[in-house]
Formats: sequence, C-alpha cells, structure tokens
Amino acid sequence: MGMPGKRPAMIFTVAIDGPAAAGKGTISRAIAERFGFAHLDTGLLYRAVGVMGGDPVAAARNLTPHDLTRDDLRSLGAGQAASRVATLPAVRAALTEFQRRFARSPGGAVLDGRDIGTVICPQAEVKLYVTATPEVRAKRRWLELGGQSGPDSLDAVLAQVIERDARDMGRADAPLRPSDDALVLDTSSMTIDEAVAKACDTVAQRLSA
Ligand code: CDP
Repeated sequence: MGMPGKRPAMIFTVAIDGPAAAGKGTISRAIAERFGFAHLDTGLLYRAVGVMGGDPVAAARNLTPHDLTRDDLRSLGAGQAASRVATLPAVRAALTEFQRRFARSPGGAVLDGRDIGTVICPQAEVKLYVTATPEVRAKRRWLELGGQSGPDSLDAVLAQVIERDARDMGRADAPLRPSDDALVLDTSSMTIDEAVAKACDTVAQRLSA
C-alpha cells in the first residue's frame, strides 16, 4: 500500500536502436535531459566486456559500475571488441536483467543500443530506430575522434563501421534490426538538432497520449 495521496512513480521506457555512430547517444542524452529520464548507453556494457580480456562470459557476469568508467571505452578498438563479444549468447544473457531493471527506473528511462526495442524491452512506450548512410556515420565518428589521419583515418573508420554493422546485423542472437513498431529516423540529411527535435516530439506525443 502506498502513502495516501502519493502516486507511484511513472514507468516509461524509450528504446533507441540503430547502427554504429548513427547519433543514438546524442539523441538519448537529449531525451533524458528534456524529460528527466535516466539514461543507459548499453553499448558501454559490451565495450567494457570487450576490453576486459580473459573470459568474456565471466567478465559480463561480474561487470561492475566502475568498469563502465574506463577512459578507453570509446575507442575504435573497443567498438570492435564489443561487437565480437556481443555475438556470444551467454554474454548477452548475463547483461539482460540489469538492462531490463534499468528500463523500469522510476520516473522513466531511455536505453540506447542494438536490441532494446526487439529483445530487452519489446513493451517500450517509444521505439526509435536511428540510422544514416555508412559514409555519413563514419564522418561523424571520425570527427568525434578528432579527425586524424593514419590508423584512425576516415577510410579506416568507414571500413570499421561497415564491418561492425555486418557483424551486428548478421549475428544469430539479437541481430540489429528495426522492431516492426519502431519509428525509423534516417538522419543522413538532418542536422543533429533536427534529429533531436523529431525524437523529442515523438516522446512528448506518447507521454500526452
Ligand atoms: O556508439 P556506437 O553506436 O558505435 O556503438 P555502441 O552502441 O557503443 O556499441 C558497441 C557494440 O556493442 C556494437 O557494435 C554491438 O556489437 C554491441 N552492442 C550490442 O550488441 N547490443 C547493444 N544493446 C549495444 C551494443
């Protein structure tokens, strides 16, 4: 029994999926800030398991919040390592419960990843699939990483984006794909502000429905 007059905190989940460097992170953070939702970048879980070394299943089972604060998680290498361990069903299973619990954070939650709308939270109130052409996404990620030449050149980033997409879409367990009821947001010819505005409008509409 709750306290008289006290309303239970709202449960409201926004699921944001899409391929590498599509703008999911920026859109998720903007939604979290505007609506006061908790935000979980689920890619960080896989990145942390990927860079840990040793047995990835044990790493996933023993993951702690502290592991998510490593400063090398955003590197291209961590992205590749993440997509390799992410093909392992036992790794995905070890991370499922934490994500589902987070999705029910009192007051609302936004989770971004690859399988949030399809596997982790099929009941999410809002589902967005954020995408863009591989060339546009590679350019964004390359600029984000400092626009360097050498091993992290634009061509190298594009090759890695294409390789990672193929692995994420081709795996047997929880492959990347838009859920049937997701709103597909192609940001190829949108500014990030336009993409954020469209995503926030979708959430606002569902909240007032
Ligand atoms: O930021 P970016 O879109 O490049 O990648 P990320 O969201 O940090 O995810 C890194 C990798 O983790 C992806 O390429 C996927 O292989 C994996 N991942 C996943 O399988 N499921 C998720 N929910 C999130 C990430």
